[in-house]
Amino acid sequence: MTIIVAVISAACFVQLSFAVGTSGSHAHLFSNEVSNISFPNGFMWGYASAAYQVEGGWDADGKGESIWDYDAHNHANWFPAGQNGDVACDAYHKTEEDVGLLVHQGVNTYRFSIAWSRVLPTGRIDNINQAGIDYYKDLIKRLKENNIEPLVTMHHWDNPRAIEDDGGFLNASVFIPAFVDYATLLFEQFGDDVKWWITFNEPKQICGGGYDYGGFSPQTLSSGRGGYICAHNLLKAHAKVYRVYDEKYRTKQNGKISMVIDESWNEPASNSSADIEASERVNLMTYGWFAHPIVYGDYPEIMRTRIDKRSAQQGLSESRLPVFTEEEKSELKGSYDYLSVNMYTTVLAAATQDFPIDQISYGADISVNTYQPDDWERTAADWFRVVPWGARHLVRWIAQTYGDKKGIIVTENGYTDNGEVLDDLDTRGRFHKMYLSNLNDVIYKDGVNLIGYMAWSLMNDVEWYAGWLTNLGHYHVDFNSENRTRTAKASASYYKHIVTTNCLLDSCVPTTKKINL
Ligand code: BGC
Repeated sequence: MTIIVAVISAACFVQLSFAVGTSGSHAHLFSNEVSNISFPNGFMWGYASAAYQVEGGWDADGKGESIWDYDAHNHANWFPAGQNGDVACDAYHKTEEDVGLLVHQGVNTYRFSIAWSRVLPTGRIDNINQAGIDYYKDLIKRLKENNIEPLVTMHHWDNPRAIEDDGGFLNASVFIPAFVDYATLLFEQFGDDVKWWITFNEPKQICGGGYDYGGFSPQTLSSGRGGYICAHNLLKAHAKVYRVYDEKYRTKQNGKISMVIDESWNEPASNSSADIEASERVNLMTYGWFAHPIVYGDYPEIMRTRIDKRSAQQGLSESRLPVFTEEEKSELKGSYDYLSVNMYTTVLAAATQDFPIDQISYGADISVNTYQPDDWERTAADWFRVVPWGARHLVRWIAQTYGDKKGIIVTENGYTDNGEVLDDLDTRGRFHKMYLSNLNDVIYKDGVNLIGYMAWSLMNDVEWYAGWLTNLGHYHVDFNSENRTRTAKASASYYKHIVTTNCLLDSCVPTTKKINL
């Protein structure tokens, strides 16, 4: 998110380029037609959530402190007053009720995350919290009883504080073995029932926001360096976990593992070859920063070349982008069983001069101006405009660049407002309709093997440092009530209609297409 802010700060350019963006090559893409073809049979429809955002019970039954708990308690002013994850939606105490909502909604998949510090309070394997294990066992059991497939994220931004005290993602010798132990425990405990795993959610946000340009915990920032070190260690940890699964669990448990990567589609600002190249460069240095290593075994060539070159020009004896050994490359290559993307918005990407060489930052390494034209529909978040056609371009690009044979899942997509609007059919409902219509086109017009879609989110939650000032849920949560009462918004019934009929309209043309998992 922050990278967008950083890169669009060339305000004059934003104004200048605006006319090119809307009246030029993009106008035809704003089609309001909605696809009337049914989504394929067996399409994975679900909701996504994350532990810190919904669970609460931050220290219940032996849970250890996570970095977000730490921030809430030590940097309270980083959150809107009182709006943190201590109680959140109290999902920790409401498994039955929340699974009931999922059943009511008719989804066949639920993406949730396990809080590392709930099962391992210090992050280390020598101290297992049985109450934490039991909590997730119960959740998984109830989901399975209702034919809802768990799609489980191992790490949704919430390092145990004890791991962070030892350097977190920046300390390979602590982080990697601890994460591998944690993941192995999850396979042991839950792997017979969980067939879909995600190691990390949005590594770009973890590493950029947490260790480079800021915006997310733990805010241990080192511009143009920290993000790359974090990402390098994260990728190695991911690959090791994938190989542990291969060696010890795959034959018996037969599940699938991937990493969830977020991306704002970077559309060329014009048809000029410079803008087309700029767009490709940003896509490769954002989504590709993580997708390239897990698919092909190494960072994208453009990333290697640019950061090596800028590091040398900066007088550094080594590139700021670390290098994988041959062994690490082969562990990484192919370490995914499906591809995924969290998508919300789109920006335009325009070529510009390389940023000054004394600027040591991720944004300067990319050196592309990205911006959103003023007349694109706004939401409650600055970075987020409604751009349905971007969804199609993004998924198509992923398929073209990384292949779609193993299937692609949209693991997050949703609309943000102030969280209080219950009659949200014309905003959130329309958002899902238009994004999904474009995704339907990806399937039928572009022939991409898109296999699932998770809406963010079932209910309003703790939007990290924004508390509940902005929100994306299909259910409102009364954060002022002890009960944290959930109330359906209009979008909930519309989404229920979609997932139970495979159709965005009242009725659709049936399809014989089937998802083969
Ligand atoms: C994150 C979620 C977050 C959502 C909406 C994604 O970047 O994975 O945790 O709530 O965006 O802001």
